[in-house]
Amino acid sequence: MAYLSPSSSPPILLTGATGYIGGHLLDRFEQEQRAVRCLTRRPHALAHRAGPRTEVVAGDLLDRASLDAALSGIGTAYYLVHSMADVADFGEVDRRAARNFAACASQAGVHRIVYLGGLGSGDGLSAHLASRHEVGEILRGSGVRTLELRASIVIGAGSASFETIRSLVESLPVIPAPPSVSTAAQPIALDDVLQYLVAAEAVRVVHSEIVEIGGADQVSYAEVMREYARQRNLTRAVVPVPMMTTRLSELVLASLGPRQGRIAAAMVSSLRNETIVQRRATAAPLAVRPRGLSAAVERALRSEDQAFAEQRWLAAGAFAGESRWGGMPIGRRLLTVRTAPVNARADEAFAAIERIGGPTGWYATNWFWRFRGLVDRLRGGKGQQRGRRKGHTLAVGDPIDFWRIERFEAGRRLLLTAEMRMPGRLWVQFEVAAHADVTQVRLTTMFDPAGYIGRAYWYLLYPIHRGIFGTLLRGLVRAIAQQTGAASRG
Ligand SMILES: NC(=O)c1ccc[n+]([C@@H]2O[C@H](COP(=O)([O-])OP(=O)(O)OC[C@H]3O[C@@H](n4cnc5c(N)ncnc54)[C@H](OP(=O)(O)O)[C@@H]3O)[C@@H](O)[C@H]2O)c1
Repeated sequence: MAYLSPSSSPPILLTGATGYIGGHLLDRFEQEQRAVRCLTRRPHALAHRAGPRTEVVAGDLLDRASLDAALSGIGTAYYLVHSMADVADFGEVDRRAARNFAACASQAGVHRIVYLGGLGSGDGLSAHLASRHEVGEILRGSGVRTLELRASIVIGAGSASFETIRSLVESLPVIPAPPSVSTAAQPIALDDVLQYLVAAEAVRVVHSEIVEIGGADQVSYAEVMREYARQRNLTRAVVPVPMMTTRLSELVLASLGPRQGRIAAAMVSSLRNETIVQRRATAAPLAVRPRGLSAAVERALRSEDQAFAEQRWLAAGAFAGESRWGGMPIGRRLLTVRTAPVNARADEAFAAIERIGGPTGWYATNWFWRFRGLVDRLRGGKGQQRGRRKGHTLAVGDPIDFWRIERFEAGRRLLLTAEMRMPGRLWVQFEVAAHADVTQVRLTTMFDPAGYIGRAYWYLLYPIHRGIFGTLLRGLVRAIAQQTGAASRG
């Protein structure tokens, strides 16, 4: 294999763009301004997601007639489809889908198929892995040059495997696991999978090939859970229980309610199969340097934080109000939005926000913040002693008492992350917006509880948190009024 230039290449066909891997790959191609055509059974699901250059066509891999138009004029077709979430008998359904796709791609003169399947070797493959391999075999037999990338579990927020691990570790102090939890796997970061998939389009291919891809570490599933727990500051024990059958494990997972219940069940039955790279050289031409487990988990958690921080909660009018105990659940986070109108210009209102902390204090209940700082210091934290940098200019990364600035948009938005010790992570965001001569100040708190202790902490202390942040907003509004009054008198 060697590299080809992707310039002036014909459009890419993306199947599975409404799914996890396909959705992220679509974002990548759109960033690179590539011409993409998505085939989906649910075009409406892409209506707000796909960019203006992306073509969306309705099609079903089980309906051959719907594939011809979608495959016409295509250079590379990505096969990122499985029906595990849809039907129990996914083996038969996925076989039919792959056969239809193989025949139509060959007929349409598609140059290349890129398929992401699963690692796993040896006899006694689970139904899930056997089906993934069979799909690869069908596509490789199509006569179209096919790159079958085989991967173990994908570490990324939203991935079925990662979410299953997350729900187990977040919910259970002691995780009963089948003995196969010590089977070796080679988890790979979402970003690395995407890099491999993108590279697979440009690499020169002479024959159809199987490419084994994996992260830098070979670890057991138990180690993946421990690493997740470590990064979330959770104390967890993974206990292999000999009586823990596949069926029992599926019931435990179902009781925790992961969204991808059926997929999680299929994955449990695959735990017994090692999913490690045995032929590393097959991936070398794609020139990706995959990260290890720790970096992959860190990246998954950080990218999720980033996406959360970029979310404009100002637009989230539906969340306004404090009526719900603990706040509005968004994923595992709890969000409360409080709004108050102020009789000032937006820049005047924001000036008061910019002065917060340090010698100015928190506009109300400063005794509480001093007490909270003391508790934090007693627990080995930084307390309130850091104050803030001299002057009023704020910058991302600066400390303000026991907070740190995570986002700062002058005149509009200040997002702070709490650095005090607590069983979870807390953000507080101040926003100012002016609409039709009315200036609104909005205070949003977001808590990401660490496990069940974090949840208990937040729910039990919610009346205190509600009081403190409500008082903070009222104090801020008073300070803005005083400052505006003083300016107009002066
Ligand atoms: N996620 C992982 O951890 C992981 C790990 C290793 C390998 N992989 C492989 O990566 C590929 C994609 O997995 P994923 O996790 O992204 O899957 P996913 O999120 O469950 O999405 C599955 C996709 O398949 C599409 N689909 C299902 N049946 C279809 C049909 N008859 N016609 C057209 N589209 C159909 C669905 O689209 P519509 O319902 O919108 O039509 C959906 O977009 C799979 O081959 C999987 O084996 C995934």
